[in-house]
Amino acid sequence: MISKSTIDKVYETARLEEVIGDFVQLKKAGSNFKGLSPFSDERSPSFMVSPVKQIWKDFSSGKGGNVVAFLMEHEHFTYPEAIKYLAKKYNIEIEEIEQSNEQKEAANKRESLYLVSEYANTYFQNILHKTDLGKAIGLSYFKERGFTSETIEKFGLGYALDEWSAFTDSAIKKGYKLEFLEETGLTIVKGEKQFDRFKARAIFPIQSMSGRVLGFGARILTNDKKAAKYLNSPESDIYHKSKVLYGIFHAKQSIAKEDNCFLVEGYTDVIQFHQRGIHNTVSSSGTALTADQIRLINRLTKNITVLFDGDAAGMRASLRGIDLILEQGMNVKICTFPEGEDPDSFAKQNTLEELREYLSKNAKDFIQFKASVLYEESKGDPIKKADTIRDIVNSISKIPDRIKTEIYIRECARIMDISEEVLFSTLAQLTKKEQKEANKDAKKEQKAFEVIKHQQLTKKVDVQYVLERKIIEILLLYGNKVQSFEDLVLKENEEGNLILEPITQEAKVFEKIYLDLQDDEMQFSNEQFKILYYNIVDTLNQDPGFPIENFVHTLDQSLAGEVTSILMEDERYSLSDWERKNIFPKNKQETISQLVSETILNLRCFLIEQKVNEFKQKTLEQKGEINREVLEEVKDYSGLKMLLSRKLNRVL
Ligand code: CTP
Ligand code: MN
Repeated sequence: MISKSTIDKVYETARLEEVIGDFVQLKKAGSNFKGLSPFSDERSPSFMVSPVKQIWKDFSSGKGGNVVAFLMEHEHFTYPEAIKYLAKKYNIEIEEIEQSNEQKEAANKRESLYLVSEYANTYFQNILHKTDLGKAIGLSYFKERGFTSETIEKFGLGYALDEWSAFTDSAIKKGYKLEFLEETGLTIVKGEKQFDRFKARAIFPIQSMSGRVLGFGARILTNDKKAAKYLNSPESDIYHKSKVLYGIFHAKQSIAKEDNCFLVEGYTDVIQFHQRGIHNTVSSSGTALTADQIRLINRLTKNITVLFDGDAAGMRASLRGIDLILEQGMNVKICTFPEGEDPDSFAKQNTLEELREYLSKNAKDFIQFKASVLYEESKGDPIKKADTIRDIVNSISKIPDRIKTEIYIRECARIMDISEEVLFSTLAQLTKKEQKEANKDAKKEQKAFEVIKHQQLTKKVDVQYVLERKIIEILLLYGNKVQSFEDLVLKENEEGNLILEPITQEAKVFEKIYLDLQDDEMQFSNEQFKILYYNIVDTLNQDPGFPIENFVHTLDQSLAGEVTSILMEDERYSLSDWERKNIFPKNKQETISQLVSETILNLRCFLIEQKVNEFKQKTLEQKGEINREVLEEVKDYSGLKMLLSRKLNRVL
C-alpha cells in the first residue's frame, strides 16, 4: 500500500496543467487554460483547467475534478495507478507502508512474473526484427497478413524461433529464475530438461488494461493439421484468461469516447480493425465471454456490438453467451459478416468508410436479431417453435430494466408472429421459477439475516420525500449563491432524434430551482415542504442577504423545527461519491451547482417513472390489449428517462 505521506507529496508536487498538458493541448485563457475536450469530439474548446484551484472541468461531458480524477477518467487508472503514474512523472519515491510477510511475498512473486513476461515480450520482438530467421519467417508472415510496421510495433508482435530452448536459455542467462519462467508457462520443465513453450510461432502479447504484459498467444505458421493453430499462456498469478480482453489497453480510450465496444473473436480481428481506424475493438480470444470480461467493458461503456464471422457455425451457441451481457444491463447489438468473411478479412478488403458504413447498417439489436434468426429456423415446426419461444423469452428475462423488457416482448411478438399474451405468460413462468430458486437459496440463510431484513423493511425510503427535503436544504444553505449551471436543452437533430445540448448559464441557486420546477409543473407532495418552499423563495426574492437566523424566527414551531434539523445535518452533502473515490475537492462550493442539478434531475426521473407506471397500469386495465399510443408514450418517457439518467451519471 502507498503511504499517506507519498500521496501527500504527490498532491503537493503535481501540477494539474502539466499533467493534463501531456494529453490535451492547452491554451492560456485568462487565468485558466482551455482546450478541446478529450472526452468528446468537439470543434470549439469547452475543457477548462484552473491552475490556481488545481481543478479541471469538461463542460461538454460534465466531468471534472482534481489531477487524480483526470487520470482516472482519461487513462482509466485505478486510484493507486494514478498516484504511481504521478510519482513516476515527478520522480517521487513511492513509500509502501508495511505489508504482512505473505502480502509482500505475493506482491513480489507477481512482480517477478510481470518482469519475466516483460522480458519475453522484448525477446520475441527482438527475434522478429533483428534476426534473419525472424525477419524471413515471422516478419514476412505479418506483412503478408497486411500488418504495417507501425501496427506490428504497437501490438508488440514477435516471433519464437524453431529451437527447443532458445528463449529459456537466454532468460536464464539474463538472471531470470526458472521458477518464474515455469509459472508463467513460458518454459516447460521436464525433469532435468527445460523447453520453450512457444516454438516456431508468431507471438501476440496479451496486455492488461494498464498495458502490462500478462501472457501470450502464439500462432503456428505451417499447415500442420495436427498441431493447434494457437497456443496460449496457461493461467498464472498474473494471467487469468477469464478476466482479460485482448486489445483492451489500446481500445479503452476509444471505447469510452465512442461509447461503444466492438467484440470480435480473435487476435487478428482486433489488430486489423485497429489498423483500419476502428480502435474500440477487443476480443475474448476464442473462449466464451465471461462476466468478468463484460464488467471490464461495462466500466467504459454500456454498449457492445458483437461481430460474428460469416460462417460462424456455432453462432446459435454464442448467442446464448450474450445473455450474460444483458444481465449486466448493457445494450447489445449483433453484426454478422458475409459468408466466408471474418472481421479481419472484411476490414482488410474495405476502406474505413466502407467498414464504418457496413457496421452501422448491419448492426442489429440483439433481441430482434435473435428473434428473427430463431423464427427463420423454426418456421413450420411447432415443436421447435415452442423451444424458440422459451429461448428468446429467457434472454429477455435477463434484462434488468422492466420497461425495456416489456417493449422487447411486444417487439418479439411482432417479429415471431405470436401473441403477446403467450410471451408474457412464458416470461411470468420463467420469473416465477427464478424467484423460487432464489427463495430456496435465501431460505437457507434466512435465519442469519432475519434481523437485518426487518431493519431494511422498516427503513424503506420515500424517494420523493427525500428529494423534496433536499431541495429545501439546498435553498436554505445556498439559495442566494450565484452558480454557473450546465444545463441540457432538449433539441431535435437533423435525423429528427431528440438529443440533449449542453449550455452553461449563471444563475442564483433559488432562481434556477424555481424555474426548473415550474417548467416541470412540479408540486411538492409534502405540505410542510410546500409551505417552506414558497416561504424561502419569497424571502430570497425580497432580501438577497437572507440571514438564516432571522428567517427561522419568522416560522411557526413545527416549520422552524424542520428547518433547524435540516440545517444541523450540516454539510455532509453529496460529496459521498467523491469520498468513495478518495478524492476531496479543495473547494466544496465547486459542487453546489452539481448538487442542484443532480437533485432536480433525480426528482424528474422519479416523476417520469411515476408517469410510466401510470401508463403501465392503464395498459393492464385494458386486459393485455395493446394500445399503440400508450406504448409510444411509454417509449418516449423511457427514452427521456434514459437521457436524464445519462445526464445524471455525468453530474454524479
Ligand atoms: N484460438 C485459440 N486456439 C485455437 C484456435 C483459436 O486460442 N486453437 C483463439 C485465438 O485467440 C484466435 C481466436 O480463437 O484469435 C479465433 O480463432 P480463429 O478465427 O481460428 O483465428 P483467427 O484469429 O481468425 O486467426 P487467423 O486469421 O490467423 O486464422
Ligand atoms: Mn482469421
